[in-house]
Amino acid sequence: MIKTSQLFFRFFVLQNNLFMIEAMDISITRVKHSKLQDTNLENIPFGKYFTDHMIEADYRDGEWTNIEIKPYQPLSLEPSLVALHYGQAIFEGMKAYKDKDGNAFIFRPRDNFNRFNASAVRMCMPEIPEEIFIEGIRQLIEIDKNWIPAKENHSLYIRPLMFASDVALGVKPSDTYKFIVMLSPTGPYYAEPMKIAVEEKYTRAAPGGVGFSKNAGNYGASMLAATIAKQNGYDQVLWTDAFEHKWLQEVGMMNVFFIVNGIVVTPSLEDGCILAGVTRSSAITLLQEMGLKVEERKIHIEELLDAYKKGVLNEAFGTGTAATIAMIKELKYKDQVMQFEVNKFKTALALRKWITDIREGRREDKYGWMWKV
Ligand SMILES: Cc1ncc(COP(=O)(O)O)c(C=O)c1O
Repeated sequence: MIKTSQLFFRFFVLQNNLFMIEAMDISITRVKHSKLQDTNLENIPFGKYFTDHMIEADYRDGEWTNIEIKPYQPLSLEPSLVALHYGQAIFEGMKAYKDKDGNAFIFRPRDNFNRFNASAVRMCMPEIPEEIFIEGIRQLIEIDKNWIPAKENHSLYIRPLMFASDVALGVKPSDTYKFIVMLSPTGPYYAEPMKIAVEEKYTRAAPGGVGFSKNAGNYGASMLAATIAKQNGYDQVLWTDAFEHKWLQEVGMMNVFFIVNGIVVTPSLEDGCILAGVTRSSAITLLQEMGLKVEERKIHIEELLDAYKKGVLNEAFGTGTAATIAMIKELKYKDQVMQFEVNKFKTALALRKWITDIREGRREDKYGWMWKV
């Protein structure tokens, strides 16, 4: 392995503002032999393969230290690790793309950085500085950029993770934490139109809880409902509020949008029960640019059923980093089934193409979403 240590000063241009990411010392150890030649990047399944390198950093005595880019490898952890028992673990998900000239870009990393730190604060964990999160990821991608599949709808998924690393039993916030970033090349995910069951029994999030944070426990808690839905022939559940199971929240790993009588509606972020999706925010911006009215507000299931019966529930889709825009072909609530002809979804299909074209460099990035690596 070849070990180097570098002091980086980076300048990024974002929407005409020049700003500096501070200097930081990252130690870099490169693999001798890349696994890339043994990996077929065509139609690669989500989350199964990892690139040659990862970031690892430690938090102790109130500061982040040992910031390293090193070969992707197993961690050695004790059974008493706080994260495993008491759930102090958060993560993020974003993607890097290649344009036709082979340049690598990351989609809106600052939004994921801000959300990561919002999750950290909620879970009583330390925030991570931008120099480690954004500049570290940029360096990592620069090293592993040949892993970005140069194929439409393919990308390099970026998974930052932070977990409590104290080795001790007893419920209290850990004093030490580990930050990791791994990269996974990926093909289209959830590209098929979805059948969704509106959840009537289990709860994902309630006001005052942790629904808005991307902590591991939210996903563990969602698995039973999702498994039951799958057994019943559905791809995912549409979560509803904790009290009446009638106010819509979000779908599995996606935010949800409906077009009712030409107006786009999506559940608001107000009560802190859903994740503030980066794709959700991008979709709202582009839908508004298309000239559509977008309402972020509470949505009752009866409102949708009523619109469906009147023939004015035009489109239904989910938004998320993994799926981009995923059409909903069926939505079931109790014994009522709403079916949609997704190939007639003009707006959602146009939106999917627009976001994908921005990400893959075929359309102007006028909002400064793409950060060049
Ligand atoms: C629970 C949940 N909601 C929504 C989303 C969509 O968020 P984003 O568009 O930032 O990927 C995700 C995906 O990360 C998620 O896990």
